[in-house]
Amino acid sequence: MKIKSIMFVCLGNICRSPLAEAIAKNIISELNLDIKIASAGTVGYHQNEMACEQSIKTAKKHGIDLTKHRAQKLTQKHIKEYDLFIVMDKTNYRDLKKYKLNMKILGDFGFDGKAVPDPYFTGNIELVFDMIERAIKNMLAELF
Ligand code: 4NP
Repeated sequence: MKIKSIMFVCLGNICRSPLAEAIAKNIISELNLDIKIASAGTVGYHQNEMACEQSIKTAKKHGIDLTKHRAQKLTQKHIKEYDLFIVMDKTNYRDLKKYKLNMKILGDFGFDGKAVPDPYFTGNIELVFDMIERAIKNMLAELF
C-alpha cells in the first residue's frame, strides 16, 4: 500500500508526538514528498493544551515553531483516515493494538524498537529530539 498519511501517537500528545509531527513535516517538505502528517494522544487529559515547555524550547532551538500545536486525542476518524500509525512506546502500541492498525514503534527504525523516552517524566529532551529526528529519517528512507 502506498503510504499517503502518517499519524504519530504518544500518550498525552504534548511532548513526544508533537515533536515527531513537526520534525516529520520539516523533513517531508525538504524532500518534496506529499504525505499528510498529524499527531494525537491515546488519552485526552491534555486536550487542546499547548505542547510541553521542553518540547517547545527544544523545537525552537532547532528552528521549529511548536507554539501552534494543540493536543488532541486519537479518534475513530483518525483511525479511518490515516495509513500508518507511528507510536512512541510499547504502552501506546498495546493501547492501539485492538484497532488492527498499520502500526510501528518509531524505535523500529534504527533503534531496536526502543521506546522514545518520555520527557514528561525523565527523558533528556535533546536526546529525545535527536532520536526522533534520526528515526524519522530512517523511516522515510525505508518507506519512500
Ligand atoms: P507525551 O508525554 O505522551 O509525550 O505527550 C506525556 C504527557 C502527559 C502525561 C504523560 C506523558 N501525563 O501523565 O499526563
